[in-house]
Amino acid sequence: MTNNSPLKWWQRAVVYQIYPRSFKDTNGDGVGDLQGIIENLDYLNDGTANSLGVDAIWISPFYPSPMADFGYDVADYCAVSPLFGNLATFDRLVAEAHRRGIKLIIDWVPNHTSDQHPWFVASRRSRTDPLRDWYIWRDPKSDGSLPNNWGSFFGGPAWTLDKTTGQYYLHQFAQEQPELNWRKPELRAAMLDTLRFWLNRGVDGFRMDVIGLIIKDAELRDNPLNPDVDPNLPPNDLFSRLQQVYNLDQDEVHAVIREIRGVLDEFDDRCGIGELWGELPRWVRYYGEQGDELQLPFNFRLIWQPWQAGAIRQAVDDLEGALPSFAWPNYVLGNHDQPRLASRLGGQAQARLAAMLLLTLRGTPTLYYGDELGLENGNIPPEKIQDPQGRNLGAQRTRDVTRTPMQWNDQRYAGFSTVEPWLPVSPDYQARNVAAQRQDARSMLSLYRRLLWYRRQQPALLGGRYQPIDSAAPDCFVYRREADGERRIIALNFAAEPRQVMIAASGRGQIVLSTYLDREATVSLGDITLRPHEGVIIE
Ligand code: GLC
Ligand code: CA
Repeated sequence: MTNNSPLKWWQRAVVYQIYPRSFKDTNGDGVGDLQGIIENLDYLNDGTANSLGVDAIWISPFYPSPMADFGYDVADYCAVSPLFGNLATFDRLVAEAHRRGIKLIIDWVPNHTSDQHPWFVASRRSRTDPLRDWYIWRDPKSDGSLPNNWGSFFGGPAWTLDKTTGQYYLHQFAQEQPELNWRKPELRAAMLDTLRFWLNRGVDGFRMDVIGLIIKDAELRDNPLNPDVDPNLPPNDLFSRLQQVYNLDQDEVHAVIREIRGVLDEFDDRCGIGELWGELPRWVRYYGEQGDELQLPFNFRLIWQPWQAGAIRQAVDDLEGALPSFAWPNYVLGNHDQPRLASRLGGQAQARLAAMLLLTLRGTPTLYYGDELGLENGNIPPEKIQDPQGRNLGAQRTRDVTRTPMQWNDQRYAGFSTVEPWLPVSPDYQARNVAAQRQDARSMLSLYRRLLWYRRQQPALLGGRYQPIDSAAPDCFVYRREADGERRIIALNFAAEPRQVMIAASGRGQIVLSTYLDREATVSLGDITLRPHEGVIIE
C-alpha cells in the first residue's frame, strides 16, 4: 500500500453496526425499525462535527423471519419484515443514507435459512422433492444414531430428525436454522441472485454471516474431540467439546467466495465483509490469493486478547505481518454476539482507551451501536431472556445483554420507544444517553466524535504506515502512523497507574487529543506522563 494511492471508500470508512430491533422504534411496538434508522441518520453523520461522523452503516438482518434467532433465520432473502418496514422504507433508507454520504451494508445469511423458508418447506416434504438437496439431509446411522458427532453452537446436537421423511437435517445453530447445501449449483445460483437483488437496490456491501461454514467436508466426517474443554461447560454444549475441523474453513469454500466476489464485481465499488473466526493462517486466505475474495474478512483478534498492552500489540503486529501486500486490515471490538465493550474491559476509562486504539490503528474499524455512549451489559432477568443461546446454554451465555435498547434521552424507555421495549432498557439510561452526552464536552460520545472527525482529516491515520515504537514503558502500547512525511504518535497506557513513556531521546510534540479530553499541551517526547488508562495522540 503506497501512501499516495487513493483509498477505496471501505478503506477510509468507519463502519457502525446497527442492531435494528434495538436502535429506534417509530411505530410503538417496542421493536426498532428501519424508519427509526432513517430518523437518526443525522445523528450518525449530518456532515458536521456535531454528529458522530461514521461513514457506513451495517444493519443486522431485517428480513421476514420467525425470529428464532432474531432475524438470522431468514424466511425470504428478498423482502423486508413488516416488523421493520417494507421495501419502500428500505429504498428511502438507501436514498437518505446516500444523500448524507453514508454507505449502506446489509447482513446476508448464506449458511442457513429459517425452517419456514419456502425452500425448506419444500425440501422437507419428501425425499424426492426437487429442492430436497438444497439442504443437508442424511440417514441415521445403521444403529439409528445421528449422522455424525457435530454439535450445535446453541447447544445440543447439530442434527434434527424429520419424522415425515425419516432423515436428519443439519443445523449448527438453532433447530429452526437448517443449513443450505452450497455444493448444489441451483442453490448457489439462487443465493447469488439474492445478492443482485440488493445490489440493484443500491446497497454498498454485505456482511456475510458465518461465511466460513457454508461448505462442509464432503463426507461430513466426525470432528475430533477438543483436548482442552472447559470443565464448567454446560453439558449440552456439544459444539465446544469438538475441534472445528470438518465443518469450517474447508478448502473448497474459497472457490465459492470467489463466485460471490464475482457478483459484487458486476457492480461498481461494492464491498464484501465476512464473519470469520479462524486462526490467522486460515483466516488470511479469505482475502483470496489474488485479492479476489473478501475485501474485509472481519478481524476479531483484539476481542480474544486479554486487555494488556503486550497482548494487544502482539495481535496487531501478527496481523500486520500476516497480511499480503494487497490486503487491507480491519478491527472489531464489539458486536451483537459479544458482551459490551465497557463491561468486558472493566470500565469506562478502559473503553475510552479502546476507542482511541480502534480509531487509530491501520485499517477499517467497525463500531457497535451504543459503544459510543459506553453502554454496559444490560440486566436481563432470567424470565426475560430472548436469545436462543441464553435460553439453551444458560443465562451467563445470553447475548441479550449486548442488545438492549439504544439510549437516546432520559425519558421513559430512554427515548427508544413509547411502549415497553422487547428487551429492558439499562437502568443507567437517565445518566448515560445521547442527549446528555451531547451536552458534555468530555463524554464518551464527545470522545468518539472527536476521534472520528480528527481521523477523517488525517492521511496518516487513514492510509499511513503503522509502526510500533518500543517505548521502554511497561503496560503501554505506542505506535506511529505516517503518510507523506506527516506523523502521528499514539501512546496508550493500559495500566491502572500512571506511566512514563519515552518516545524519542529528544524533541517535542503536541498532544492533540487525550482520552480524557482535558489536555492539549506541548510535551517532551523523551518523557511523557500518561495517567491511568490514558491514551493520547501526538502531532
Ligand atoms: C452469526 C451471527 C449470530 C447468529 C449466528 C447464526 O454468528 O452474528 O448472531 O446467531 O451467526 O446466524
Ligand atoms: Ca417498531
